[in-house]
Amino acid sequence: MPRAQRPSLTAVKVARVLVHLGHRRAYAPLLPAGAAERTQQLLLQAGLLKPWMVRWMQRPAYNRALEQIGDWFSPGQAVRIGLRKRLIDDEVRDALNRGATQVLVVGAGFDTLCSRLAGEYPACRFVEIDHPATHGVKRNAMQALGWVRPNLELLGVDLSQVALSEALLRHIPAWDRSRQTVVVAEGLLMYLHRHHVARFFGEVHTLTRAGSLVVFSYLKSDANGRPYTGRVGWLTRASLALMGEGLHWSVASTEALATFVETSGFALESEPARFDLGVRYLVPAGIEQAGAAPFEFLAVARHRTESSRPI
Ligand SMILES: C[S@@+](CC[C@H](N)C(=O)[O-])C[C@H]1O[C@@H](n2cnc3c(N)ncnc32)[C@H](O)[C@@H]1O
Repeated sequence: MPRAQRPSLTAVKVARVLVHLGHRRAYAPLLPAGAAERTQQLLLQAGLLKPWMVRWMQRPAYNRALEQIGDWFSPGQAVRIGLRKRLIDDEVRDALNRGATQVLVVGAGFDTLCSRLAGEYPACRFVEIDHPATHGVKRNAMQALGWVRPNLELLGVDLSQVALSEALLRHIPAWDRSRQTVVVAEGLLMYLHRHHVARFFGEVHTLTRAGSLVVFSYLKSDANGRPYTGRVGWLTRASLALMGEGLHWSVASTEALATFVETSGFALESEPARFDLGVRYLVPAGIEQAGAAPFEFLAVARHRTESSRPI
């Protein structure tokens, strides 16, 4: 099925990994509260997970085997996906507790952050955007589950065709640039071309007020300037490209990233321990297994100044 007509395979994969981790006794407590259970419900409702798959996931031997296959591609990958969700959940909650009242998740896939937080923070506005093919399946499943709320809006937009600001301002009239906002781009920006990523930050700058945050993940470049995705990176890159979800954007270093976002009027928050999933979550839990070198990194950029980059 062409990309335009089927839900994102990478989004389904991330969601299934989370469900899998929810059935792993060692890792389940590290996930955002309720995220694995809710994702399981969502995928079952959408037909993207079958009851027999869930029964298999409840078997420790099967779960371990699944993890070993994933580890062959990239050690600790599954755990890191779970912890990336935990870090984003913690960062967004922290921002909401400090006064943010608007959350935008771009490329939301089958993530349940907004649907979980919309009930907990009824005075805040939550918006999710994804490609229409993924969005449609998710929206139908959420409606069937009764998860649609007045303070949560889902928008189907192909961001390679329509600018983020145009989509948002046209379809979400209640969007308020004067609110303190958190924008999440989890596992998204690496699939865009560099100029689209630059445009993304520029647009987020015009859509939000100073002090607003962008929480995002990114890849670093390998020696040839391509996105580095672990020891069999060529295989990962080739299979993603075959799925119609090729990787495009990566940065040479954290310093290069800081310069990149600065051009759009953002300052990169620079506290290494805050963004180190091992230090922040695994060490306190007494787990060292997933300490293998990561290739996907997390960052927060704060809307700071006027942008010097035209969008
Ligand atoms: C790897 S998935 C991540 C999903 C989710 N953020 C998560 O981490 O669970 C990437 C997501 O970006 C979305 N995406 C990629 N290109 C897009 C585009 N041009 N317009 C809208 N969404 C896009 C995909 O549909 C997919 O849901």
